[in-house]
Amino acid sequence: MKIIMLGAPGAGKGTQAKMLADKYHIPHISTGDIFRANIKNGTELGNKAKVFMDKGMLVPDELTCDLVVDRIKQEDCKDGYILDGFPRTIPQAECLDQALETLGDKIDYAVDVEVPDENIVRRMSGRRACASCGATYHIVYNAPEKEGVCDRCGAELILRDDDKPETVQKRLTVYHEQTQPLIDYYKNKGVLAQVDGTKDMQEVFQSIVNVLEK
Ligand code: AP5
Repeated sequence: MKIIMLGAPGAGKGTQAKMLADKYHIPHISTGDIFRANIKNGTELGNKAKVFMDKGMLVPDELTCDLVVDRIKQEDCKDGYILDGFPRTIPQAECLDQALETLGDKIDYAVDVEVPDENIVRRMSGRRACASCGATYHIVYNAPEKEGVCDRCGAELILRDDDKPETVQKRLTVYHEQTQPLIDYYKNKGVLAQVDGTKDMQEVFQSIVNVLEK
C-alpha cells in the first residue's frame, strides 16, 4: 500500500503516519524528519535545509525530490510506504509521478487530514518532539508519561524551532499557497480521501483505516 499524507502543518500527518506504519508494517518516510536528522548531524543537506525551515519556507524542490525517489527505491519499500510531508508542491508531485511511472507503480491513496487554521496554532504551541527518536507528543492531547521525557527512548523532549507562533503563521501561508493545490491534483487522479482531523487521534486513525480497508 502506497500512501501520501496531506494536510496543513500540525494537522496530525506525522501522528497518523506513525500509527499506520506500525499497523501495516511499512516504512514511514517523513521529509521533515529526514531534514531534521541532517540538521542535527550537520550535513551539507541539513545546513542548506535549515535556512529555509527556520523561516517557515519550503526547502527547494531540487533538494527534496531525488532524496525521496532514492528512498522509495529501497528494498524495505517494495510492499509499500507512507509519505509524510512529500509531495508538497505540484512540481514535487509530478516528479514523484514520473519516478513511479518508471517503476511501473502508482500511489494508492492520498489522505488529506483536514484541520482548520485556528486549531493548528493551538496544536503547534503544545507539541513536543523527541530530539533523539523523533516521536511526537502534545502537552494536553498526547502527553508523555513523564513531563519532558520521551516514553519511547527516554531522551529529552523539545519544542521544534519552527513551532514558534510567527513561524507557524508563515508555514500556514506557504501551505495554502503551495501545498493545498495538491488536494485537487490527487482528487483528479481519483485517489484522494479526506478525513476530519479535528477528532480525537484514535478516531482519526479509525477513519483512515476505514478508507484504506473499504
Ligand atoms: P514537516 O516536519 O513535514 O512539518 P509539517 O508538514 O509542517 O508538519 P508537522 O510535522 O508540523 O505536523 P504534522 O501534520 O505531522 O502534525 P503532528 O502529527 O506532529 O516539515 C517541516 C519543514 O521541513 C517544512 O516547513 C519545510 O521547510 C521542510 N520540508 C519538509 N518536507 C518538505 C518538502 N517535501 N518540500 C519542501 N520542504 C519540506 O501533530 C501536531 C501536534 O498535534 C502534535 O503535538 C500532536 O500530538 C497533536 N495532534 C495530532 N493529532 C491530534 C488530534 N487528532 N487531536 C489533538 N492533537 C493532535
